[in-house]
Amino acid sequence: MTESYLVTGATGALGSAVAHRLHGEGKRLRVFIRNPDKFRRLLPDVAATTEIVVGDILDAAKMREVAEGTRFIFHCVGFPLAQFERLPQSTENLLGAAPQGAHIVYPGNSHVFGIPQYSPVDAAHPHNPTCLVAQIKSQTDEMLLRAYGNRGIPTTVVHLPDFYGPRVTNQLMRSLFQDGLKGKTTRLPFPIDAPHQYIHVDDAARALIAVAGQEKACGHAYTVPAVDSITLRDFSALIHGLAGTKGGMASLPSFFLSLASLFSTEIRRAKGIMYTFTHTIVMDGAQMKADFGFTPEIGYEEGIEDTLEWFRTQFGRHRGL
Ligand SMILES: NC(=O)c1ccc[n+]([C@@H]2O[C@H](COP(=O)([O-])OP(=O)(O)OC[C@H]3O[C@@H](n4cnc5c(N)ncnc54)[C@H](OP(=O)(O)O)[C@@H]3O)[C@@H](O)[C@H]2O)c1
Repeated sequence: MTESYLVTGATGALGSAVAHRLHGEGKRLRVFIRNPDKFRRLLPDVAATTEIVVGDILDAAKMREVAEGTRFIFHCVGFPLAQFERLPQSTENLLGAAPQGAHIVYPGNSHVFGIPQYSPVDAAHPHNPTCLVAQIKSQTDEMLLRAYGNRGIPTTVVHLPDFYGPRVTNQLMRSLFQDGLKGKTTRLPFPIDAPHQYIHVDDAARALIAVAGQEKACGHAYTVPAVDSITLRDFSALIHGLAGTKGGMASLPSFFLSLASLFSTEIRRAKGIMYTFTHTIVMDGAQMKADFGFTPEIGYEEGIEDTLEWFRTQFGRHRGL
């Protein structure tokens, strides 16, 4: 079998970081995406030498066509919270499509563990998903790991902290970095004084690549920590400090979230995962270090500088940054 790498969701935060890194390592790369123009805009150098297949991951026949001949598959699609039910179907499509022996590497998160029973949380920590989105994520982790035992499909789940970095444009990160550059105070209904873990998305990509093709990783889950814990208030202050602007972060009363959640499924589901910002979840990196020599390397200052630079070049001209 050829050493060919497939990345799904390569226009997203993690998928683009994995594709970027694999490309830098000179790997034979195929990406499965919906929007080739977006991919070319985000990663022009990668796009120039990458096999781009366009389609929807919910299309099982297309998925079989895409996966053919691949040896390592990074399942990096992500769905808006309001469409999160699509995740298990996309995963089943991938399991049905993976060529024999191909290793599926999947990014888990920290939400599935619920409020930690001990710390740091390792892969043996029970899953205790307390909201629908975390339940679906947990079921998907189980579906993947069971596929190794029941169907002989090599799979690994790597639980990662929340991302920041270039091309991470979810609402929280986009607001923090754009407001940081503009010198505006970010006002969102997040608890901002509990320590939280953020991983630079390039470290997250490196963690997934570290386990790919490793026999001892098959059928197992791993946890990855961030370099450190930091409150949202301090994270925002660091962004403003490095951007050379005034401002920071202020928490809107949770009443705003409750009110908005009456009208929006997306916000209702976001409210469900707020426990990850009120309770600190620190994941254990010992097994990743022992098995693959992996540790996260990008400190907050370096990572935020890098992210500010990306936001400046991507949005500066259009948004007056
Ligand atoms: N974000 C975090 O902080 C975090 C932390 C830990 C783990 N994770 C996990 O990492 C994974 C990726 O998250 P992310 O934040 O990188 O996601 P993201 O930035 O929202 O990207 C999602 C990707 O999935 C693609 N996609 C969505 N629906 C699709 C479909 N029907 N067919 C094909 N592609 C589709 C999107 O394509 P378009 O560009 O066309 O929309 C995009 O490329 C998820 O499993 C997530 O749970 C995320």
